[in-house]
Amino acid sequence: MASLQPPRGTSDLLPPDSERFMALCALATERFERAGFRQIITPMFEDTALFHRGIGESSEVVRKETYTFLDRSDNSLTLRPEGTAPVMRAIVSNHLWDEGTPIKLHYEAAMFRYERPQKGRVRQHHQLGVEAVGSEDATLDADVIAVGWSVLEAAEVGGVTLLLNSMGCARCRGAYLPIFVAAMQERVSQLSEDSQRRLVENPLRIWDSKDPGDQAALVGVPTLTDALCEGCAAHFAEVRELLTGWGIPFTLRPGLVRGFDYYTRTAFEYASETLEAAQNALGGGGRYDGLVESIGGPKLPGIGFGLGIERILLAQQAAGTARAARTLDLLVIPVRREDVAHAMRIVRAARDAGASSDLSYGERGLKAHMRNANRLGARFVAICGEQETSAGSATLRDLVSGEQQELGIDEAVARVCARPEEH
Ligand code: HAM
Repeated sequence: MASLQPPRGTSDLLPPDSERFMALCALATERFERAGFRQIITPMFEDTALFHRGIGESSEVVRKETYTFLDRSDNSLTLRPEGTAPVMRAIVSNHLWDEGTPIKLHYEAAMFRYERPQKGRVRQHHQLGVEAVGSEDATLDADVIAVGWSVLEAAEVGGVTLLLNSMGCARCRGAYLPIFVAAMQERVSQLSEDSQRRLVENPLRIWDSKDPGDQAALVGVPTLTDALCEGCAAHFAEVRELLTGWGIPFTLRPGLVRGFDYYTRTAFEYASETLEAAQNALGGGGRYDGLVESIGGPKLPGIGFGLGIERILLAQQAAGTARAARTLDLLVIPVRREDVAHAMRIVRAARDAGASSDLSYGERGLKAHMRNANRLGARFVAICGEQETSAGSATLRDLVSGEQQELGIDEAVARVCARPEEH
């Protein structure tokens, strides 16, 4: 049998990467909760109809990238490709607006998309997201954008450009679409095959094309931002004014047209300045004022974003700010079999006092135990031989300074737990 590997586009997250992943989740969760978001956990799969109604039939994700299957009762289910539609479904299922609005929720969740795997683009990725629902206020847009910005800053991902646009409402988009389609039809021969298809299925997505021919064809074509109705233009102006006032720099990108049908008005992306252009979006989001209604709920406008954990970890690596691998504070070495029980008492005392500590297992010589300490990156070792076991002590060696001293258990543990600068 060929050796078993994780499915294409997925990977095992091993230490220390798994620790970096969890540290990022903790950092983001803290920022989200400081901003009044509370955590929601929704199922990993939903009825397929939710994504068709919520994300939209014309979106690339729904047409080509979902993992959809029939369960044993012939229900069509889909692994969630994104987090917004499921959170809106949960709001509707649980009437969350009864307790007042805006409803502010955050999540950390795996997403599944059948994409062509490459660096920064995988089939199971993870997002840290927020959704704020029940207000049209532009202040909420600016605050949500600022919260995402603060997470990326705290995560030290290196240079980020905040790309900002407004996708207008159904009314201004309805008026704009025929103008745009007519302009594109005049240039259809210049368009890539993909964009010729988009022209029929989802014309606005042509704006998002990275193809140089498509980009050339778009030069001089009126943008959606030029066609915003009065209400959308005023809303967009307020968002920009607030961000400017708070010192959050942004770049207007009239071609930023995000890939799900639910987006209205404010749309934004956090683009890494270090990752490759095709996968440089560290996160993205926007307003979705009609989404809750489209899945059968009341009129509840909302805005949110999703940050891609894998991409943030890549950006941290590129910026040289990835956290150092975790190490062990204390490794306790029993010299003889008879010293194990005493050694283990020290391990447990150190753990109870808040230090990471482990026993060096196996009967081996001191040299081999020291190699083990090295492999684990231990800061201290405590050696327990005949003398220490009978005295109830430990010989504590500081592996950085090389100093060694026989101490009582409490004293040894206190030394290990002391802040590094006090060692
Ligand atoms: P999205 O732009 O599709 O938006 O995904 C958000 C982020 O997830 C992207 O910016 C990227 O960092 C990461 N991402 C997406 N696909 C992949 C992939 N295949 N591999 C690795 N990372 C990926 C949404 O999903 C919206 N639900 C965001 C949102 C929340 N809008 C409003 N509220």
